[in-house]
Amino acid sequence: MSLYPVNSTADALSLLGEESERSSRLQDEIRQLIGTSGINAISFAQFMESALYHPVNGYYTAATQVLDRGGDFTTAPELGAVFGHFLSTKIARAFHSSPIPARIYEFGAGSGKLCVQILSELNRLGCEIDDYVIIEISPRMKQIQQQLVARQIPKISTKVHWSDFPADKGIQGVVIANEVIDAMPVELIRFVEGRVHQGYVTERGDAFQLEFRTILEEEFEQTCNQISWPNFEGIYTSEIHCRAEAWLEKVAECFEVGSMLISDYGFPQHEYYHPDRNQGTLMCHRRHHSLHDPFDFIGCQDITAHVNFSSLARIAETVGLEVNGFTTLAGFIVDTGLESLDLASLQISEQMSVTQQLNTLTSPSEMGELFKVMELSKNIEPDRLGFKSFDHMHRL
Ligand SMILES: C[S@@+](CC[C@H](N)C(=O)[O-])C[C@H]1O[C@@H](n2cnc3c(N)ncnc32)[C@H](O)[C@@H]1O
Repeated sequence: MSLYPVNSTADALSLLGEESERSSRLQDEIRQLIGTSGINAISFAQFMESALYHPVNGYYTAATQVLDRGGDFTTAPELGAVFGHFLSTKIARAFHSSPIPARIYEFGAGSGKLCVQILSELNRLGCEIDDYVIIEISPRMKQIQQQLVARQIPKISTKVHWSDFPADKGIQGVVIANEVIDAMPVELIRFVEGRVHQGYVTERGDAFQLEFRTILEEEFEQTCNQISWPNFEGIYTSEIHCRAEAWLEKVAECFEVGSMLISDYGFPQHEYYHPDRNQGTLMCHRRHHSLHDPFDFIGCQDITAHVNFSSLARIAETVGLEVNGFTTLAGFIVDTGLESLDLASLQISEQMSVTQQLNTLTSPSEMGELFKVMELSKNIEPDRLGFKSFDHMHRL
């Protein structure tokens, strides 16, 4: 999503200097992976993994700025503190209604703004937190988060810890993952003459190209066969979220007690694999432009795909988590209580900013419908705040 005016010339996007050199180095590494693969190709998910998370040259590892005005795209916490306000209200209720440790685990904390917003808001609400644990895959993002937390909330910064995954102790508390799953690598699939094929990345001259081949791995073929594909005419391309499913299984293994809030762009499965969505949802972002070629600006643009919430719900249930609620962001915000913003107590300029954020978060043409919130839980009787009025569980 872009909120900022963008320069529409190709020049505004072109890679210069260090970026261009880093992208070349990354492309050489990807060529090497292809060369040593034994099949002269890597799966699309392997390509996306390298493009985003290569330990030295990947997008999230090395880009100077990913989020906000100077970066490539904007997430809800980057708009301001309103999204964090509603999430904090829900988290405070979770701690109040269940005897769980006052501990928050945030996966993929981006710039660290959501952590700052939540800890500040919980502090304001008088909700004491013991620990805020961030599990961040990118060392570079972790460094950015550490700087922001130290600068913006010095008095409570000692509560924030960074941990590798899986957490050494079992997870007890509230887990949040905002726009993390849509940054996880996906496999691409395409129906060719009625049979599902898998997307592979190969080389053609100096460039990379996508090639759809017969599926080689039995497990992946089974995953594809379990999906009820739509009736469609012509070519149908989409994504399969194996990495996100494996990630949720791993989280569930460590999960002992508490609640988990997953918020992201996405759909239930029948809407995801809709006949009209025949190009899938894969999208790239650079300098607030929405782009469509993952082989452009390799390592210097974001690559993302929407989340299949039905597949997450199915995995959750098979690994012992309960699905407590699923709704749109607008539904979640309205049910959590607009009155909690107490607009009347704010300065005019703050009122304007809050109203603007609310518009973006709730408008059906922006984040209100496309962005969803799902709550999973284990060993607690969850409070239904956020999901009572507009529960969309039946759509999963
Ligand atoms: C799109 S950004 C979202 C950042 C932040 N949550 C926000 O809403 O602004 C994705 C973040 O998730 C991190 N990430 C991706 N996969 C991850 C994983 N498996 N575990 C932890 N962090 C991950 C990325 O490095 C990045 O910080």
